[in-house]
Amino acid sequence: MADTKKEPKSTALVSDIPFPTAESYGKDPAAIPGTDILKDTVPLNDAYDFVKMKKRLAKKLDPKRYEHSMGVAYTAAALAMAYGEDMIKAYTAGVLHDCAKCLNDEERDECCKKYDVELTQIERDHPFLIHAKLGAVLAKEKYGVEDPEILSAIRWHTTGRPDMTMLEAIIFSADFIEPNRKPLICLPKIRSIIFSDIDMALCLILEQTLVHLEHKGQAIDEYSMQAAEYYRKKINER
Ligand SMILES: [Fe+2]
Ligand SMILES: [Fe+2]
Repeated sequence: MADTKKEPKSTALVSDIPFPTAESYGKDPAAIPGTDILKDTVPLNDAYDFVKMKKRLAKKLDPKRYEHSMGVAYTAAALAMAYGEDMIKAYTAGVLHDCAKCLNDEERDECCKKYDVELTQIERDHPFLIHAKLGAVLAKEKYGVEDPEILSAIRWHTTGRPDMTMLEAIIFSADFIEPNRKPLICLPKIRSIIFSDIDMALCLILEQTLVHLEHKGQAIDEYSMQAAEYYRKKINER
């Protein structure tokens, strides 16, 4: 099992959770012994108004980017189920992770100015990197998401960073493996291990990303390099 930063919220075994019986139907689940695991579980649409959020997002992204975002959202929710992470936070971060991706140069620069987004040299040289930082800002300002864990997962989804939180790791990797991604040689392997070993999957994704950027002669963000080193070391020290 992956060595994750955040412990699963519940250690209950599936066999410990009672299945509903005829008598339990209609009762408050909290009154049934052993069902405290359900207390934090609310349906997705009770947490945020996703209909409104997606309508707004669909106007800001091109159709392919919108479909990709939905793919990331559902993949992230599935990974959250596997790792005991908050499914709603994962889904929300997935929906919004690329919300700043389709801005044109002028809109992007205007937004950065308006919200005082500080840019590094590599972000100025490779403006596509800015959408992660700016996406976190717009998720808050335009979509009303205040949760710092969700905003941080959006912030780090492109480069990754060393010692990511589970939610950051989930969004970073869901972005890479979601079903709409065009097939890469490494994808089947990563998809096959990620639900049981997310650290190994992160290591493979980061290494693959570095190789790809190197091959294309593109600059590599410092955080991606540090992240690759961090997860390589973590795997080697097992
Ligand atoms: Fe992105
Ligand atoms: Fe993406």
